[in-house]
Amino acid sequence: MRVSVIPGRLISESLDVGKLIGAIEEGFRRADAMLEPRAIYPVDGGTVLLMSAHDSRYHVLKYIAIYPRNAELGLPTASSVVVLSRSSTGEPLSIIEGGLLTAYRTGATSAAVAKRLAPRGRLTVGFLGAGAQARAHAAALSRVLAIERAVIHDPNWGRAEELSRFIREGLGVPADAVRDPDALAGESDVLVAATTSRVPVVRWEALAGRGDKLVISIGWLDVHSREVDEATVLRSSLRVVDTYAALEEAAELREPVRRGLLGRGDFVELRALLSGPPTSHPGGIVLYKGVGTPLEDLFAAEAAYEELGGAAEAVDL
Ligand SMILES: NC(=O)c1ccc[n+]([C@@H]2O[C@H](COP(=O)([O-])OP(=O)(O)OC[C@H]3O[C@@H](n4cnc5c(N)ncnc54)[C@H](O)[C@@H]3O)[C@@H](O)[C@H]2O)c1
Repeated sequence: MRVSVIPGRLISESLDVGKLIGAIEEGFRRADAMLEPRAIYPVDGGTVLLMSAHDSRYHVLKYIAIYPRNAELGLPTASSVVVLSRSSTGEPLSIIEGGLLTAYRTGATSAAVAKRLAPRGRLTVGFLGAGAQARAHAAALSRVLAIERAVIHDPNWGRAEELSRFIREGLGVPADAVRDPDALAGESDVLVAATTSRVPVVRWEALAGRGDKLVISIGWLDVHSREVDEATVLRSSLRVVDTYAALEEAAELREPVRRGLLGRGDFVELRALLSGPPTSHPGGIVLYKGVGTPLEDLFAAEAAYEELGGAAEAVDL
C-alpha cells in the first residue's frame, strides 16, 4: 500500500488558504458528502475524538487528541492525524498531519461564514486567544475581509505579541496586543474567540450596545467547556452552528436547548448558510459557534491531497 505523507511543514508553506476557503464553500454546497456522528472519549488529562466522513471520491478519518495541560509542558494542546482514502475501494491514499490541517480548515470555515455575515466596511478584528487557531483565523479572515486593525488578547502576553507581529509583518495589517479582553470585545466588529478557556470569555455585557458584530467562537475542550456566556447565546440575532450536533456537544448551546429556551429552529447549519441564497449581517450580534465537523475535515483533506499530494513523499506501508 503506497500513501503520500503530507507533513505540517508542507501545509504551512504551500497550502493556498484562498483555495481552501473555496473548497470548504464548494464542499458544503455539494449534496454527496455524508458524515458519521463523531466519537468523543474523555481520557485522563484530555479528550480524544474520532471523526469520519465521506463523499463519492474520498473517505476521511481523523484522530484528534486535545490535552489542554500540554501547554504547561510546552507541547501543542491538540495532536492529530488524518487518513484520506479512496471511497470506491477503501485504499488509503494519504496520511496528513492533522493539527495544522485542523487549524487551517477551521479558519477557512470561519472565513466562509465571515464573508457572508461580517458587518460591512473596514473592520476591527479582535482575537481572544493567540494560539494556532487564532493564527490560522487571521490568515483566512485577511483573505475575505477588509481588516483595518487587529487587536489581540491572551493571558500569555508573549503569545499575544507574537500573533500581533505575525499579523503586522505577515499580513500587512496594523495589530496590537492589549490587556483588557472586554474593551477588545467592545471595539471589535469581528471577534474571534479561540481559547483553551473552560469558562466564558465572550460576555454579553462587553458586546451589547457597541454596534453590529460577528462573534466567531471556536474554542471547545470537551462537552462541558463554555467559551460564550448564556446571554450572548440567547440574545444573538442569528446563531450559526457547523451542524446540529453542536447543540449536543457545546455546553453553551446544550443548556438553553435543554431548558426549552432555544430550539433547532433558532440555529442555522453551515450547509444551509453556505449553499443558500446570498445573505448579509442582519444587525445586532451574530454568533457562529463552531465545534468542528468531520465534513470540514473531509473537504480540507481533499483539498490538501489534491494540491500537495504530488509534492509529498510517497511511502510504502
Ligand atoms: N471548533 C473547532 O473546529 C476546533 C478545532 C481545533 C481546535 N479547537 C479549539 O480551539 C481552541 C484553540 O485551539 P489552539 O490550537 O489555538 O490552542 P492553543 O493552545 O494553541 O491556543 C489557545 C490560547 O488560548 C489562550 N487562552 C486561554 N485562556 C484564555 C482567556 N481566558 N482569554 C484569552 N486567551 C486565553 C491560551 O493562553 C493559548 O495561547 C481550543 O479550545 C481547541 O480545542 C476547535
